[in-house]
Amino acid sequence: MTKSRRGNQSPSDIESPQRRRFLASAAALGVAPWLLSSLGEATAQTGSRQSGHQRRKLGALEVFPVGLGCQWKPGPADGTVQDYFASSVDRATAVALIRRAVDQGVTLIDTAEVYGPFISEEIVGEALQGLRQRVVLESKFGFNVDLGTGKLGEGLNSRPEHIKRSVEGSLGRLRTDRIDLLYQHRVDPQVPIEEVAGAVKDLVAEGKVLHFGLSEPGLETIRRAHTVLPLAAIQNEYSMVWRGPESDVLPLCEELGIGFVSWAPLGYGFLTGTITAESRFGDNPEQDFRAGVPRMAPDALTANMALVDLVRTWAQRKQVKPAQLALAWLLAQKPFIVPIPGTTNPAHLDENIAAAGITFTEEELRSLNAAVAAVKIEGARLPPPVLAMSGVEAPPGT
Ligand SMILES: NC(=O)c1ccc[n+]([C@@H]2O[C@H](COP(=O)([O-])OP(=O)(O)OC[C@H]3O[C@@H](n4cnc5c(N)ncnc54)[C@H](OP(=O)(O)O)[C@@H]3O)[C@@H](O)[C@H]2O)c1
Repeated sequence: MTKSRRGNQSPSDIESPQRRRFLASAAALGVAPWLLSSLGEATAQTGSRQSGHQRRKLGALEVFPVGLGCQWKPGPADGTVQDYFASSVDRATAVALIRRAVDQGVTLIDTAEVYGPFISEEIVGEALQGLRQRVVLESKFGFNVDLGTGKLGEGLNSRPEHIKRSVEGSLGRLRTDRIDLLYQHRVDPQVPIEEVAGAVKDLVAEGKVLHFGLSEPGLETIRRAHTVLPLAAIQNEYSMVWRGPESDVLPLCEELGIGFVSWAPLGYGFLTGTITAESRFGDNPEQDFRAGVPRMAPDALTANMALVDLVRTWAQRKQVKPAQLALAWLLAQKPFIVPIPGTTNPAHLDENIAAAGITFTEEELRSLNAAVAAVKIEGARLPPPVLAMSGVEAPPGT
């Protein structure tokens, strides 16, 4: 704990019953007391629970260390939506969840045209009415979505004219005049990245997009895009269960001053303590995406429980929830990493936000990193056709 992280009133200045309640709240949330203290002060000063003490940089953008992923599709009944793991809620609940996140200080809100398609952007747009100024809003283009009907076709489409029409649609659904951080969702093997970056640069000149990012790109494509239009962030899968970015993408981000947004930071729920060796996800990836994920197939799941055991042990040691331990581990790896966990549950949202206040000593981190590195994960992170869209290099420009 450093002094600068505390506000003017330290926990020890608070009178006894209040201090007891304060410490109990901190423990219940699994959050360091200084963070709760600073959140409380920010509430008093600004009416929001946003901590001015904790910020992470994604290029020139500054955000709260934990963001929120908003990836919804139509649910089983009218008026409902569901995530990609078969959990459904009323649409109003999804809207309220986003508003709750912003109210608690979350600033990075992630979504994409293809989530739904369209419906996630519509929900985010509805939720951010009156809150737009308080968030860094990110969306993505690049899948082959029919921009009229919202029907998802085969393959990808990052042709410049498609990108520009796609962004017009996103702006309308998001009910805003600008997207703070716009990503190419996957590299299009048919379109030179210079043309993609050029189209986004035009949108920046028009004020419709403020910053540019890439999701799951090849390394050379990152360098080439960054030359045309500086990248604010790379958005890749990264968590205790998938550490691929450590060998190449993270060092490149560090070299070029690009932020890193980590998707599936909880390994699709694997790292939260709610999944056991006996968990099954059905046989329809359309219903539950995990049904098609090799590392979550029955045999792999059994083998991979070693990591869950490790997370549980460390969570107990740190007196936090497993999901919080997994998010805190990510935040401790590099100061420019921002996880965007997804959830349908307000209590989980609160836990995830509170993970921003969990810290490790150098010795703890060394020991935890070594233990994580010693666990061998069985099974690929994505179904083969989806995996084939990662790490792709864009074709050379003409
Ligand atoms: N760029 C890309 O290609 C890409 C790909 C996939 C996703 N994304 C983005 O990344 C975001 C997050 O990824 P994700 O949703 O796939 O995976 P995730 O965040 O790793 O996992 C979400 C799962 O974890 C559970 N969970 C969340 N917090 C929890 C907690 N505190 N305790 C227990 N369970 C908890 C959720 O269940 P509950 O609902 O019960 O909380 C849900 O089943 C997405 O929303 C999307 O915005 C981007």
